Amino acid sequence: MVNMIYSISYKENIVGNSDTNDLVFNIREDLQFFKEMTIGTTMIMGRKTFESLPTGGLPKRKHVIVSNKIKTVEDAKNILGEKYLENLIFINLDELEGYIKEESKNTNISIIGGAMLYSRFLEDKNLFDLVSNIYATEVERIPNIKTPIKLMGHSNLKEKCNFEVVKIGQGKDRLDNNNLVDYKVVRYFKV
Ligand SMILES: NC(=O)c1ccc[n+]([C@@H]2O[C@H](COP(=O)([O-])OP(=O)(O)OC[C@H]3O[C@@H](n4cnc5c(N)ncnc54)[C@H](OP(=O)(O)O)[C@@H]3O)[C@@H](O)[C@H]2O)c1
Repeated sequence: MVNMIYSISYKENIVGNSDTNDLVFNIREDLQFFKEMTIGTTMIMGRKTFESLPTGGLPKRKHVIVSNKIKTVEDAKNILGEKYLENLIFINLDELEGYIKEESKNTNISIIGGAMLYSRFLEDKNLFDLVSNIYATEVERIPNIKTPIKLMGHSNLKEKCNFEVVKIGQGKDRLDNNNLVDYKVVRYFKV
């Protein structure tokens, strides 16, 4: 099974901050949900999302990084630094579809961002067809970010998919002075 997972300020479709390479919200309960969804899976991510991971990788999950720049270990060392180099797989965009088809025969796959990679899945029919579920943590509040990264493809998901709310919650946003934020997790799926 292939799941896509993200959090979004859905009124403006904001998923990240290009100045800081950070998430749009940092809500502990939502990160816990992300952990539950991704543990034991093969996570596929864009190079910038990989660079944004705090410790260079997350335990108990395989990391596959999509990059057209990184082709060899030497490239990876130059761009990412030594600490990132263990147990990682680098693929390029052209290999993505074939990789997922093969890997998903044995393992669940999580597409974990960022905007460039999500957009590709929402726009490319062959990739979109591989996705079973999109789990979007939707927040109404619009964050005060000068350089927002947007995922415009989110806005018409309700026309393309069925959906159900799987979780409703409230948590402190560590990127906004611990102010309380209401969120809901919506699962989008095809018929
Ligand atoms: N809201 C969420 O749940 C969530 C989740 C993850 C990340 N984020 C945020 O999203 C931001 C990063 O997103 P981003 O869009 O800037 O970068 P990204 O998708 O993480 O990485 C982009 C890089 O990955 C490769 N790549 C991935 N998709 C590509 C495509 N369709 N076409 C060409 N190259 C592609 C390229 O690597 P090369 O340049 O090496 O060729 C590209 O520069 C950060 O702020 C991060 O915190 C948010």
